[in-house]
Amino acid sequence: MLYIGVDLGTSSIKLLMMDETGDIKRIVSKEYPLYFPKTGWSEQKPEDWYERFVEAVKELTDGFDKNTIDGISFSGQMHGLVILDENDEVIRPAILWNDGRTQEECDYLNQEIGREVISSYTANMALTGFTAPKLLWVKKHEPENFARIKKIMLPKDYLAYRLSGVHCTDVSDASGMLLLDVKNKCWSKEMLDIVGIQEEQLAKIYESYEAVGTITERASAETGLPISVKVVAGGGDQAVGAVGTGTVGHGMCSVSLGTSGTVFIASKEFAVDENNSLHSFADASGKFHFMGCMLSAAASNKWWMDEIIGTKEYGAEQAKIAGLGENKVYFLPYLMGERTPHNNPNARGTFTGLTMDTSRADMTQAVLEGVAFALRDSVEIAKDLGVSIERIRINGGGAKSPLWCEIMANVLNVKVDKINSEEGPGFGAAILAAVGCGIYPNVEEACAKLIKVVSTTEQNAELVEKYNKKYQVFKALYPALKDMFDRMADAE
Ligand code: XUL
Repeated sequence: MLYIGVDLGTSSIKLLMMDETGDIKRIVSKEYPLYFPKTGWSEQKPEDWYERFVEAVKELTDGFDKNTIDGISFSGQMHGLVILDENDEVIRPAILWNDGRTQEECDYLNQEIGREVISSYTANMALTGFTAPKLLWVKKHEPENFARIKKIMLPKDYLAYRLSGVHCTDVSDASGMLLLDVKNKCWSKEMLDIVGIQEEQLAKIYESYEAVGTITERASAETGLPISVKVVAGGGDQAVGAVGTGTVGHGMCSVSLGTSGTVFIASKEFAVDENNSLHSFADASGKFHFMGCMLSAAASNKWWMDEIIGTKEYGAEQAKIAGLGENKVYFLPYLMGERTPHNNPNARGTFTGLTMDTSRADMTQAVLEGVAFALRDSVEIAKDLGVSIERIRINGGGAKSPLWCEIMANVLNVKVDKINSEEGPGFGAAILAAVGCGIYPNVEEACAKLIKVVSTTEQNAELVEKYNKKYQVFKALYPALKDMFDRMADAE
């Protein structure tokens, strides 16, 4: 039988089809636009996601016996606000995870209501990317849209809804809404009151590996998928990426170098970081995780390559880099502001340390290193919480670069494992589909069967030491510039 994993990302949607042994049969991806209507705002059209999905699923299944497709599931960019009216029409473009317009709403939640209070309801503090502050923003700035809201959903749940007709979500993605009581995996009545919404407007909550329904007649006509195909809830991209790398045992850690960059630590029990420096979310295997998230990881490299130096030859550009640990240039990767650890939408990308002999390769290197240093910030918080991280499983587009993996190993002082599939979230979603269809008894057993470590990049003691020194400089740059970032925002 065949299982489809859908990875609904920020720059593209990627569909993967595998059989029950984990053998990947085909991968298809389609891009869609991202809109930045104002500095720091970030939006997409849910209709674009579904249209590209329909094109992609037709290509993916072309030539296969469609009756052998058993299930489909999803990995979704998290936190995005999708709102539908009573006719199921999208009310306004989705406001995405990396949109920074909600600082005022976050200040209201964290300062007026109080961070500890919000955390006692949701296990997290309000951050500009999260969904509840976005709802408050729509309520204040677009009251006519707010009044029309019939259904509130997350990006991947819009696809599941179009396919199954079920208004569903899963515990991992719902954790990032700031509306979920994460510990008890139910909607927080207190948060719904604070935001001014009713439970009927929110989706029914499932575990990520649970089937929510099957394909509707209408979706079958649109996509060619038979009505027998089971739709399995899926999860937030980080939780599903963790499934796709087999990061499902207590204390295991994965790092993703996708558009965003995250440090993900699996935990068998619910726990909250008392400073809320790391997110405390449900995971996709039925348990929980801690997570630190930077907003522009591979996105920083893509910006530097595509927009600034104007090349698609990432490998060739990185081949010019010599002398790891010797770079005098530093890059702060805060191109969309920053979440962990600064929680500051005003933070900005910065190069510093430039001299007359700085080369293009030095700056390319600084971008890769700046992202690694920014991820180390999350690793340091985890260490302070008593979590020891000795090895990580790496995934996301950036993980395809051996050089970036080497930089990560030395900056984080960890062993970096790569596994047999590079398709973290898409593969994880296909695994969830297989579990939801009953092929495996649970996510852990599916991962144990399907995922193997195939290579490990080890750190080098001398380089670790050099990067330690550089990290101290990197760490001091943000506090030195913070006031300037605020002044720049005031001057905008
Ligand atoms: C996680 C997060 C990102 C987005 C987009 O909290 O904001 O990973 O899901 O990838």
